[in-house]
Amino acid sequence: MGGVVASGSGDTALAEALAKELEWDHVQLEARRFPDTEGYVRVPDDCIEPVRSGPVALVSATFPDSAILETLFLLHALNDVREGNMSSLKNGERSLPNVGPGLFLIIPYFGYSRQDKRFMVGEAVSARFLASTFANHCDGIVILDIHAPAAVEGLTTPVELVSSMSEIALHLQTKVHPDFILSPDKGAVERASEVAQTIGVPFSYLEKKRIDAHTIEHTPKDLDVNGQIVAIVDDMISTGGTICRASEALMKQGAKEVHAACTHGLFTGGAIKRLSSHVSGVHSTDSLPNPRANVSAAPALARGVNALLEQI
Ligand code: R5P
Repeated sequence: MGGVVASGSGDTALAEALAKELEWDHVQLEARRFPDTEGYVRVPDDCIEPVRSGPVALVSATFPDSAILETLFLLHALNDVREGNMSSLKNGERSLPNVGPGLFLIIPYFGYSRQDKRFMVGEAVSARFLASTFANHCDGIVILDIHAPAAVEGLTTPVELVSSMSEIALHLQTKVHPDFILSPDKGAVERASEVAQTIGVPFSYLEKKRIDAHTIEHTPKDLDVNGQIVAIVDDMISTGGTICRASEALMKQGAKEVHAACTHGLFTGGAIKRLSSHVSGVHSTDSLPNPRANVSAAPALARGVNALLEQI
Protein backbone atom coordinates (compact mmCIF):
# COMPACT_ATOMS: atom_id res chain seq x y z
CA MET A 1 0.00 0.00 0.00
CA GLY A 2 1.72 3.24 -1.14
CA GLY A 3 1.56 6.38 0.99
CA VAL A 4 3.56 9.50 1.77
CA VAL A 5 6.20 10.38 4.34
CA ALA A 6 5.65 13.86 5.77
CA SER A 7 7.92 16.12 7.79
CA GLY A 8 7.80 19.58 9.37
CA SER A 9 10.60 21.97 10.25
CA GLY A 10 13.09 19.27 11.28
CA ASP A 11 13.77 15.71 10.22
CA THR A 12 13.51 16.41 6.47
CA ALA A 13 16.63 14.45 5.50
CA LEU A 14 15.56 11.42 7.54
CA ALA A 15 11.98 11.66 6.21
CA GLU A 16 13.33 11.68 2.64
CA ALA A 17 15.51 8.66 3.41
CA LEU A 18 12.52 6.84 4.92
CA ALA A 19 10.42 7.68 1.84
CA LYS A 20 13.16 6.17 -0.33
CA GLU A 21 13.22 2.98 1.79
CA LEU A 22 9.44 2.63 1.54
CA GLU A 23 9.35 3.76 -2.12
CA TRP A 24 6.80 6.42 -1.09
CA ASP A 25 6.78 10.15 -1.90
CA HIS A 26 7.98 12.72 0.62
CA VAL A 27 5.83 15.79 1.35
CA GLN A 28 7.12 18.87 3.13
CA LEU A 29 4.61 20.40 5.52
CA GLU A 30 4.80 24.05 6.51
CA ALA A 31 6.11 24.65 10.03
CA ARG A 32 7.57 27.96 11.09
CA ARG A 33 7.71 30.33 14.03
CA PHE A 34 6.19 33.75 14.64
CA PRO A 35 8.48 36.47 15.99
CA ASP A 36 7.21 35.76 19.51
CA THR A 37 8.35 32.09 19.02
CA GLU A 38 4.83 30.61 18.81
CA GLY A 39 4.62 27.92 16.15
CA TYR A 40 2.53 27.78 12.97
CA VAL A 41 1.88 24.65 10.92
CA ARG A 42 -0.11 24.00 7.76
CA VAL A 43 -0.67 21.24 5.24
CA PRO A 44 0.03 23.21 2.03
CA ASP A 45 -2.48 23.12 -0.85
CA ASP A 46 -0.31 20.84 -2.99
CA CYS A 47 -0.05 18.30 -0.12
CA ILE A 48 -3.82 18.04 0.60
CA GLU A 49 -4.48 15.34 -1.98
CA PRO A 50 -1.28 13.32 -1.28
CA VAL A 51 -1.99 13.13 2.47
CA ARG A 52 -5.58 12.00 1.77
CA SER A 53 -4.82 9.39 -0.84
CA GLY A 54 -3.16 6.72 1.36
CA PRO A 55 -1.32 6.22 4.64
CA VAL A 56 0.82 9.06 5.99
CA ALA A 57 3.98 8.53 8.04
CA LEU A 58 4.78 11.79 9.85
CA VAL A 59 8.44 11.87 10.90
CA SER A 60 8.67 14.17 13.89
CA ALA A 61 10.95 14.10 16.90
CA THR A 62 10.05 14.99 20.49
CA PHE A 63 13.31 16.81 21.16
CA PRO A 64 13.89 19.62 21.87
CA ASP A 65 10.70 20.68 23.68
CA SER A 66 9.56 22.92 20.81
CA ALA A 67 9.40 19.80 18.61
CA ILE A 68 6.75 18.28 20.91
CA LEU A 69 4.29 21.07 20.23
CA GLU A 70 5.10 21.07 16.53
CA THR A 71 4.45 17.32 16.41
CA LEU A 72 1.07 17.74 18.11
CA PHE A 73 0.04 20.60 15.81
CA LEU A 74 1.11 18.64 12.71
CA LEU A 75 -0.93 15.62 13.87
CA HIS A 76 -3.92 17.90 14.49
CA ALA A 77 -3.66 19.50 11.03
CA LEU A 78 -3.13 16.16 9.25
CA ASN A 79 -6.05 14.55 11.10
CA ASP A 80 -8.37 17.40 10.11
CA VAL A 81 -7.30 17.24 6.46
CA ARG A 82 -7.69 13.45 6.35
CA GLU A 83 -11.08 13.64 8.09
CA GLY A 84 -12.17 16.42 5.69
CA ASN A 85 -12.79 18.71 8.66
CA MET A 86 -12.47 22.34 7.57
CA SER A 87 -14.59 23.91 10.30
CA SER A 88 -13.46 27.31 11.61
CA LEU A 89 -12.23 28.23 8.11
CA LYS A 90 -12.25 32.02 7.94
CA ASN A 91 -13.78 32.29 4.45
CA GLY A 92 -16.61 29.81 4.92
CA GLU A 93 -16.65 26.18 6.00
CA ARG A 94 -16.04 23.35 3.52
CA SER A 95 -15.83 19.65 3.98
CA LEU A 96 -14.44 16.58 2.23
CA PRO A 97 -15.11 12.88 2.84
CA ASN A 98 -13.23 11.26 5.71
CA VAL A 99 -10.46 9.04 4.29
CA GLY A 100 -10.29 6.88 7.43
CA PRO A 101 -7.36 5.70 9.56
CA GLY A 102 -3.77 5.61 8.38
CA LEU A 103 -1.91 8.46 10.12
CA PHE A 104 1.29 7.15 11.72
CA LEU A 105 3.71 9.07 13.90
CA ILE A 106 7.35 8.11 13.38
CA ILE A 107 9.51 9.20 16.31
CA PRO A 108 13.23 8.83 15.53
CA TYR A 109 14.25 10.00 19.01
CA PHE A 110 11.72 9.87 21.81
CA GLY A 111 12.70 12.67 24.18
CA TYR A 112 11.88 12.24 27.89
CA SER A 113 12.15 8.46 27.55
CA ARG A 114 14.46 8.34 30.59
CA GLN A 115 11.58 9.62 32.76
CA ASP A 116 9.61 6.40 32.35
CA LYS A 117 8.89 6.08 36.06
CA ARG A 118 8.68 8.23 39.20
CA PHE A 119 12.09 8.28 40.84
CA MET A 120 10.60 10.40 43.67
CA VAL A 121 7.08 11.03 44.92
CA GLY A 122 5.36 13.82 43.03
CA GLU A 123 7.30 13.54 39.78
CA ALA A 124 5.58 13.52 36.39
CA VAL A 125 5.99 10.30 34.41
CA SER A 126 6.83 12.46 31.40
CA ALA A 127 7.51 9.65 28.91
CA ARG A 128 4.20 7.94 29.62
CA PHE A 129 2.24 11.19 29.45
CA LEU A 130 3.78 12.14 26.12
CA ALA A 131 3.28 8.68 24.62
CA SER A 132 -0.40 8.56 25.56
CA THR A 133 -0.97 12.11 24.29
CA PHE A 134 0.53 11.24 20.90
CA ALA A 135 -1.39 7.96 20.81
CA ASN A 136 -4.66 9.90 21.10
CA HIS A 137 -3.91 11.73 17.87
CA CYS A 138 -2.73 9.05 15.45
CA ASP A 139 -3.43 5.48 14.33
CA GLY A 140 -0.01 4.03 15.11
CA ILE A 141 3.42 4.99 16.40
CA VAL A 142 6.92 3.84 15.46
CA ILE A 143 9.67 4.59 17.98
CA LEU A 144 13.35 3.94 17.36
CA ASP A 145 15.43 2.44 20.19
CA ILE A 146 13.29 3.74 23.03
CA HIS A 147 15.21 3.93 26.31
CA ALA A 148 12.56 2.08 28.34
CA PRO A 149 9.59 0.36 26.66
CA ALA A 150 7.54 0.75 29.87
CA ALA A 151 6.57 4.22 28.66
CA VAL A 152 4.36 2.79 25.90
CA GLU A 153 3.10 -0.39 27.52
CA GLY A 154 -0.67 -0.82 27.58
CA LEU A 155 -1.51 1.87 25.00
CA THR A 156 -4.47 0.93 22.83
CA THR A 157 -2.93 2.57 19.73
CA PRO A 158 -0.47 0.18 18.05
CA VAL A 159 3.16 0.96 18.82
CA GLU A 160 6.08 -0.59 16.93
CA LEU A 161 9.38 -0.41 18.79
CA VAL A 162 12.21 -0.75 16.29
CA SER A 163 15.97 -0.82 16.62
CA SER A 164 18.98 0.26 14.57
CA MET A 165 21.27 -2.25 16.31
CA SER A 166 21.53 -4.47 13.22
CA GLU A 167 22.67 -1.49 11.11
CA ILE A 168 25.05 -0.36 13.88
CA ALA A 169 26.51 -3.89 14.05
CA LEU A 170 27.10 -3.95 10.30
CA HIS A 171 28.74 -0.53 10.42
CA LEU A 172 31.05 -1.51 13.30
CA GLN A 173 31.91 -4.81 11.65
CA THR A 174 32.99 -3.16 8.40
CA LYS A 175 34.59 0.06 9.72
CA VAL A 176 35.89 -0.74 13.22
CA HIS A 177 36.41 -4.54 13.31
CA PRO A 178 35.82 -4.78 17.08
CA ASP A 179 37.09 -7.79 19.06
CA PHE A 180 34.83 -7.08 22.02
CA ILE A 181 31.51 -5.28 22.69
CA LEU A 182 30.76 -3.58 26.02
CA SER A 183 27.49 -2.29 27.42
CA PRO A 184 28.27 0.63 29.77
CA ASP A 185 25.33 -0.28 32.04
CA LYS A 186 22.67 -2.93 32.55
CA GLY A 187 20.10 -0.89 30.60
CA ALA A 188 21.94 -1.35 27.31
CA VAL A 189 22.71 -5.07 27.75
CA GLU A 190 20.06 -6.30 25.33
CA ARG A 191 21.08 -3.87 22.59
CA ALA A 192 24.84 -4.33 23.00
CA SER A 193 24.61 -8.12 23.22
CA GLU A 194 22.61 -8.14 19.96
CA VAL A 195 25.46 -6.23 18.32
CA ALA A 196 28.05 -8.66 19.76
CA GLN A 197 26.05 -11.65 18.59
CA THR A 198 25.61 -10.23 15.07
CA ILE A 199 29.34 -9.56 14.74
CA GLY A 200 30.27 -12.81 16.53
CA VAL A 201 32.52 -11.37 19.27
CA PRO A 202 32.48 -11.59 23.11
CA PHE A 203 30.38 -9.24 25.19
CA SER A 204 30.24 -7.91 28.74
CA TYR A 205 28.64 -5.08 30.70
CA LEU A 206 29.44 -2.69 33.53
CA GLU A 207 27.46 -1.86 36.66
CA LYS A 208 26.79 1.89 36.60
CA LYS A 209 25.61 4.20 39.36
CA ARG A 210 24.45 7.68 38.36
CA ILE A 211 25.28 10.25 41.04
CA ASP A 212 23.80 13.20 39.10
CA ALA A 213 23.30 14.28 35.46
CA HIS A 214 27.06 14.87 35.07
CA THR A 215 28.57 12.26 37.39
CA ILE A 216 28.51 8.50 37.09
CA GLU A 217 30.50 5.69 38.73
CA HIS A 218 31.21 2.21 37.41
CA THR A 219 31.82 -0.78 39.70
CA PRO A 220 35.31 -2.11 38.80
CA LYS A 221 35.18 -5.36 36.80
CA ASP A 222 37.84 -7.54 35.16
CA LEU A 223 37.38 -7.54 31.39
CA ASP A 224 39.39 -9.65 28.99
CA VAL A 225 40.26 -6.78 26.63
CA ASN A 226 44.07 -6.63 26.66
CA GLY A 227 45.29 -5.57 23.18
CA GLN A 228 41.74 -5.56 21.82
CA ILE A 229 39.57 -3.15 19.87
CA VAL A 230 36.44 -2.54 21.95
CA ALA A 231 33.16 -0.90 20.91
CA ILE A 232 30.91 0.45 23.68
CA VAL A 233 27.27 0.32 22.57
CA ASP A 234 24.50 2.39 24.19
CA ASP A 235 21.07 3.68 23.20
CA MET A 236 22.10 7.32 23.58
CA ILE A 237 25.07 9.53 24.33
CA SER A 238 24.21 12.77 26.06
CA THR A 239 27.06 14.43 28.02
CA GLY A 240 29.38 11.54 27.12
CA GLY A 241 30.12 10.90 30.81
CA THR A 242 28.99 7.26 30.70
CA ILE A 243 31.18 6.48 27.68
CA CYS A 244 34.24 8.36 29.02
CA ARG A 245 34.16 6.50 32.35
CA ALA A 246 33.68 3.13 30.60
CA SER A 247 36.52 3.94 28.21
CA GLU A 248 38.84 4.76 31.13
CA ALA A 249 38.06 1.34 32.65
CA LEU A 250 38.81 -0.37 29.33
CA MET A 251 42.08 1.49 28.71
CA LYS A 252 43.25 0.66 32.26
CA GLN A 253 42.75 -3.00 31.39
CA GLY A 254 44.88 -2.73 28.25
CA ALA A 255 42.34 -2.13 25.45
CA LYS A 256 44.14 -1.10 22.23
CA GLU A 257 41.30 1.08 20.89
CA VAL A 258 37.90 2.08 22.22
CA HIS A 259 34.99 3.20 20.04
CA ALA A 260 31.58 4.52 21.12
CA ALA A 261 28.40 3.67 19.22
CA CYS A 262 24.82 4.71 19.87
CA THR A 263 21.48 5.18 18.18
CA HIS A 264 20.79 8.67 19.51
CA GLY A 265 23.62 11.18 19.40
CA LEU A 266 22.42 14.01 21.64
CA PHE A 267 25.97 15.20 22.36
CA THR A 268 25.08 17.90 24.88
CA GLY A 269 27.37 20.35 26.68
CA GLY A 270 30.67 19.78 24.84
CA ALA A 271 30.25 15.98 24.63
CA ILE A 272 32.01 15.68 21.26
CA LYS A 273 35.13 17.38 22.60
CA ARG A 274 35.03 15.32 25.81
CA LEU A 275 34.65 12.10 23.82
CA SER A 276 37.48 12.94 21.44
CA SER A 277 39.99 12.68 24.29
CA HIS A 278 38.59 9.32 25.45
CA VAL A 279 37.70 7.27 22.37
CA SER A 280 39.14 6.64 18.90
CA GLY A 281 35.80 6.98 17.15
CA VAL A 282 32.16 7.92 17.74
CA HIS A 283 29.43 6.27 15.66
CA SER A 284 25.76 7.23 15.70
CA THR A 285 22.60 7.01 13.63
CA ASP A 286 20.94 10.10 12.20
CA SER A 287 17.88 9.78 14.47
CA LEU A 288 18.97 13.26 15.58
CA PRO A 289 21.00 15.43 13.23
CA ASN A 290 24.55 15.35 14.63
CA PRO A 291 28.14 15.63 13.39
CA ARG A 292 28.92 11.94 14.10
CA ALA A 293 25.91 10.45 12.25
CA ASN A 294 27.23 7.69 9.99
CA VAL A 295 24.46 5.05 10.18
CA SER A 296 21.03 5.59 8.63
CA ALA A 297 18.00 5.19 10.90
CA ALA A 298 15.71 4.88 7.87
CA PRO A 299 15.79 1.06 7.43
CA ALA A 300 14.68 0.49 11.05
CA LEU A 301 11.91 3.09 10.76
CA ALA A 302 10.74 1.47 7.50
CA ARG A 303 10.47 -1.89 9.28
CA GLY A 304 8.18 -0.20 11.82
CA VAL A 305 5.96 1.43 9.18
CA ASN A 306 5.59 -1.88 7.33
CA ALA A 307 4.62 -3.61 10.59
CA LEU A 308 1.96 -0.95 11.28
CA LEU A 309 0.57 -1.26 7.75
CA GLU A 310 -0.18 -4.90 8.45
CA GLN A 311 -2.36 -3.85 11.38
CA ILE A 312 -4.74 -1.38 9.71
C1 R5P B 1 21.11 5.86 30.44
O1 R5P B 1 20.91 4.83 31.07
C2 R5P B 1 21.38 5.86 28.97
O2 R5P B 1 21.30 4.59 28.41
C3 R5P B 1 22.73 6.46 28.64
O3 R5P B 1 23.75 5.61 29.17
C4 R5P B 1 22.88 7.83 29.23
O4 R5P B 1 21.74 8.59 29.05
C5 R5P B 1 24.07 8.54 28.63
O5 R5P B 1 24.17 9.79 29.22
P1 R5P B 1 25.57 10.52 29.33
O6 R5P B 1 26.19 10.52 27.96
O7 R5P B 1 25.21 11.91 29.80
O8 R5P B 1 26.38 9.79 30.33
